[in-house]
Amino acid sequence: MIAYSDDRISIITQEPRFHAESASSAFTPADARNAQRFHRSLPGYRETPLVSLSCAAQHYGVDSILVKDESQRFGLKSFKGLGGSYSMFRILCERLSLDPMKADYTTFLDERIRQECGKIEFATATDGNHGKGVSWAARLFGCRAHVYMPKGSVEARRRAIEDAGSASAEILDRNYDGAVEYAAGLAEENGWILIQDTAWAGYEKIPGWIVEGYLTMVSEMESQLQGKVPTHVFLQAGVGAMAGGVESCLISLFSGKKPSITIVEPTEAACIYQSVLQGDGEMHSIGGNPVTIMAGLNCGTPCRVVWPYLRDYTSCFCACEDSVTESGMRAYASPFGTDQKIVSGESGAVTWGLLLSVLRSDALRRLFGIRPDSVILLINTEGDTDPEGYRRIVT
Ligand SMILES: Cc1ncc(COP(=O)(O)O)c(C=O)c1O
Repeated sequence: MIAYSDDRISIITQEPRFHAESASSAFTPADARNAQRFHRSLPGYRETPLVSLSCAAQHYGVDSILVKDESQRFGLKSFKGLGGSYSMFRILCERLSLDPMKADYTTFLDERIRQECGKIEFATATDGNHGKGVSWAARLFGCRAHVYMPKGSVEARRRAIEDAGSASAEILDRNYDGAVEYAAGLAEENGWILIQDTAWAGYEKIPGWIVEGYLTMVSEMESQLQGKVPTHVFLQAGVGAMAGGVESCLISLFSGKKPSITIVEPTEAACIYQSVLQGDGEMHSIGGNPVTIMAGLNCGTPCRVVWPYLRDYTSCFCACEDSVTESGMRAYASPFGTDQKIVSGESGAVTWGLLLSVLRSDALRRLFGIRPDSVILLINTEGDTDPEGYRRIVT
């Protein structure tokens, strides 16, 4: 099952399976359009760019390398605010009996509705970016949030959560899964609403809305691609909510010519890779206190609502050492020729680091089916969310 392994990268390949039963509950382009309709109503909404690294593409002999650059999203430096804001919108619509297909952010500017929102508190656990998005969204809607971070979280990221909106943020002496449990327990005790970007049995609706929020990226890309169909998509994963949702939506959008999808994780926290390796079709947790600079990807348990798509629709699962993302960060910062420079943080650059290794190796190009007409799509999921760490690596 392991098709390739060296001291930096391990790869599992499989023939994807497109079962009817997973397709029926899939995240669709219609979900993406609903999410985008809401996001468009938010103050400061702007499409993030789809950057073409055409000099790199020419150098490596492929048709295109396209990067959806989320480093500037809502001024939060990552895509994560898309999920936090959309799920908060859906939760509040449900609480206040508003129709989410008719309401949007402007509905929440009404004084009476704001007063109701002021009584609502949220809790969540985060590696950083999700908490920042929740804090920001809580301020937009006039709510409050309580954010908990795992052991090893960087102080700059904790402070950024408080600065982004109306949340308190605390670093715990627990791993990520432990922090999720802690936030869920406190929410239960205090009557707060848990707004968590991963799912488990019995907690699926809110994470499902978070995933739908991420799909605004797909909706934007659909028009930005201008008819080009990606042949290869590389998606980084923590719990896999973003990757699984985007994957499901892309497979539905390009159903006639499905792209090959690669899921990329840090070796130390490769819960999707390890689940697939076990080969029983189930998802598994990795436990322990994994250490990786890819903080946003440092998660021990896959997200249940997207697990079927991750498992079935993916062609390649990759586990990468930290040095892979470091090389991606540097390559984004010092691009080929006249290609645009992209600021990409530790969790944002691993797919570019991996793709560079693939493009430089004949054996890996064959394994991934890279050809002169390949159209390769990546998402830079974050900018310099830890500016000091970024400078240390890139300069
Ligand atoms: C920058 C960044 N990229 C990717 C991810 C992965 O998202 P998910 O946990 O849904 O797999 C995260 C998660 O926090 C993140 O912060």
